[in-house]
Amino acid sequence: MLDTTALNQQRNFFEGHAAIWLFGYGSLIWKADFAYLERRPAYIHGWERRFWQGSHDHRGTPEAPGRVATLVRSEGSICHGMAYRITPEVLAPLDVREKNGYLREKVALTFVDEKTSVAEKSSRTEQSEGLIYLASEDNPAFLGDAPLDEIAQQIANAHGPSGPNRDYLVNLAVALRELGAKDAHIFALEQQLSRF
Ligand code: BEZ
Repeated sequence: MLDTTALNQQRNFFEGHAAIWLFGYGSLIWKADFAYLERRPAYIHGWERRFWQGSHDHRGTPEAPGRVATLVRSEGSICHGMAYRITPEVLAPLDVREKNGYLREKVALTFVDEKTSVAEKSSRTEQSEGLIYLASEDNPAFLGDAPLDEIAQQIANAHGPSGPNRDYLVNLAVALRELGAKDAHIFALEQQLSRF
């Protein structure tokens, strides 16, 4: 396992800032067990969500790893999620919790402002820089692509200290529907999962 905790603590993209936007695209969408100042639905350009990261310590075990979300670059795509405005000290425990290959990266967020009317929305987009935790293909836990039915079967069979891998995928699909977000990979996987 690559322990990325120390590496992340050097990735201080927002040094000196009193608050930071953290963009959640996986479990952070529905489960934020940290203090935050505010949260807003948002999206990022040029990325797609994929169940390509192995999980040996949360949703699986070293013997039977689960699969959890990461992002892959994809020009023209957008990935919906939830942005949390946090104080910088919130990141340290997240660096420890997400130590298995996830590194902090800087991204541009676009907020989906629920308070504005449809007419206003088209003429007004609000943006900010923010952070994501990204597991890229060079980390040892990265599993990469596989046929959807194989990914779904692996998820159906995996359990870890944070619970069944199945719950992670189902909770993510429910949360994305609540956000009104489209995500063909996640919804196709959810459908495949129902077979196992
Ligand atoms: C997320 O929900 O964005 C996330 C959670 C844990 C690790 C990486 C990303």
